[in-house]
Amino acid sequence: MSNYHIKGLEEYYNVYRKSVNKPEEFWAEVADEHFVWRKKWDNVLSWDFEKPEVKWFEGAQLNITENCIDRHLLTNGDKNAIIFEPNDPKEASEHITYHQLSERVNAFANVLKAEGITKGDRVCIYLPMIPELAISVLACARIGAIHSVVFAGFSSSALAMRINDSNCKMVITSDGSYRGAKTIDLKGIVDEALEECSCTTSVLVAKRINSDINMKEGRDKWLQPLLDHAPKQCKAETMDAEDPLFILYTSGSTGMPKGMVHTTAGYMVNTAFTFKNVFQYQNDDVYWCTADIGWITGHSYIVYGPLANGATTLMFEGVPSYPDFGRFWEVIEKHKVNQFYTAPTAIRALAKENLDFVEKYDLSSLKVLGSVGEPINEEAWHWYNDNIGKKKSPIVDTWWQTETGGIMISPIPFATPTKPTYATLPLPGIQPALMDENGKELEGNQVDGRLCIKFPWPSMARTIWGNHQRYKETYFSAYENKYFTGDGALRDEVGYYRITGRVDDVIIVSGHNLGTAPIEDAVNEHPAVAESAIVGFPHDVKGNALYGYVILKETGEGRDHDNLRKEINQIITEHIGPIAKLDKIQFTSGLPKTRSGKIMRRILRKIAGKDTSNLGDTSTLLNPECVEEIMKNAL
Ligand code: PRX
Repeated sequence: MSNYHIKGLEEYYNVYRKSVNKPEEFWAEVADEHFVWRKKWDNVLSWDFEKPEVKWFEGAQLNITENCIDRHLLTNGDKNAIIFEPNDPKEASEHITYHQLSERVNAFANVLKAEGITKGDRVCIYLPMIPELAISVLACARIGAIHSVVFAGFSSSALAMRINDSNCKMVITSDGSYRGAKTIDLKGIVDEALEECSCTTSVLVAKRINSDINMKEGRDKWLQPLLDHAPKQCKAETMDAEDPLFILYTSGSTGMPKGMVHTTAGYMVNTAFTFKNVFQYQNDDVYWCTADIGWITGHSYIVYGPLANGATTLMFEGVPSYPDFGRFWEVIEKHKVNQFYTAPTAIRALAKENLDFVEKYDLSSLKVLGSVGEPINEEAWHWYNDNIGKKKSPIVDTWWQTETGGIMISPIPFATPTKPTYATLPLPGIQPALMDENGKELEGNQVDGRLCIKFPWPSMARTIWGNHQRYKETYFSAYENKYFTGDGALRDEVGYYRITGRVDDVIIVSGHNLGTAPIEDAVNEHPAVAESAIVGFPHDVKGNALYGYVILKETGEGRDHDNLRKEINQIITEHIGPIAKLDKIQFTSGLPKTRSGKIMRRILRKIAGKDTSNLGDTSTLLNPECVEEIMKNAL
């Protein structure tokens, strides 16, 4: 029996049992079976959720790029590693073999070194979905630099905040990007951000849209000429198992985004293992994940997981609606995609369009369909299953987080029977627990619990960059000796999990994690705004949309409300990015508050969601009268 590749339900249960009874033995066997190590570990696991401190494969030495690239060269050098499908279908796609990937990553790594980047330095990558993005990520890993990819839809101030938080020495960007029919001036955004960042001394610029941009003397360099002159071999840096591999920022319910730190060996082992099993990837398959590498899904399941399995991974630069709503299905036909991994929000948006967009294309290559990022509603699940999978490709509803590094709860296709809206069973090595509000673990069939994990897994984030205390408070303080996910979940009678949504002030909009506090901070920057509260409300495409309640200062009263709404959204766009814009903004004279001054978001959420039948007891509020007013004027 292979621990690395699980093929049936019985095998799943056997492997799962072993992974719980003898976790260290189990993970050591997985790590032994599939990877190349410079030096094996002395100790598989040490952990303490109190501190918290977790170490996997201590003493081991490796380089993740040798596992993702070098070792495939002998047997699979001419196989496609990356297929790049551009934004515009009229532009030719690009096929990058493992040999070519090796040369390009090594050349890039040499450029980084020549620019003075060394092991442990932080490099910010702010690029569109072009091959240079994956290649720069791998080049950093090659020399032990810590990459911090920032999604290229974030604004200049969001970018600056992330660059400064981890003191990035270098930024890698492009002259611009294509997004559907639009072009975006990425370099301009970087220039603006860097006005606030004294830590960044060099900027490498890839050419994508051939626009006329400003190059700052002494700081900015075009990437291509440097690559052209760089040697195509670069010795991989020896990394300790627990050396940081990357930082990736995720929104929290309060303040600054959290720079989650992932380390090398455990992250590699777990993303590779989960990729193999969740997608049942076979040697000649073409796998496509539609996420952006700016998010964790792209890190783990476009770059590291697939390449660690010698897979062919497709990178798509565009959007599902350009040039029309058939674009995804056209790409599947064109590249004969076998595994397709996307988000419920995309499925819902495409399900609204005419079925002709789907039926025009041959989707018979598909074997497995994936979903990630938010709960998938029943209607979207069935549409995906009927029209895309033609009822023959199992849907893997994969639950996980930036913090978990890899997929945690998911069916194994052709093994675990699927059930709409259920992420089903924990993968080997993952020990979930449902807790009640008082910290008691709930056993068996439960309709309302808080999801925790009670044992470490190899790809968990080890800390928040520069703020271990916040890491401890956010994830390890709510429940003793457990990692708290922030999600609510239920468990059915056979042990299947269904994730019901966030139980904190994080709202998932179109699959993106948004903390309410940073958006409220942005809204409050408007000179006419006195106070604001933001909640989510159900939206049929985005899953959730944002609803803002805003109290105006005296100076703002009497001003045109529609103009104010536009200005507020403009500020949000500048501070965070367009993904955080509010769908609805209601102006009000008060916000319901507890006697200790906390805003009662529960009430605001219900009003925003038009569910006012049971608002609960409002009599203990400091200002119950404002609830009437808010209900009367609700949008
Ligand atoms: O609430 C859960 C939701 O997305 C959150 C994690 O967001 P992020 O760190 O941005 O990572 C997204 C991609 C892994 C979770 O706490 N979530 C993710 N996948 C699912 C999900 N909710 C329900 N079902 C899922 N399959």
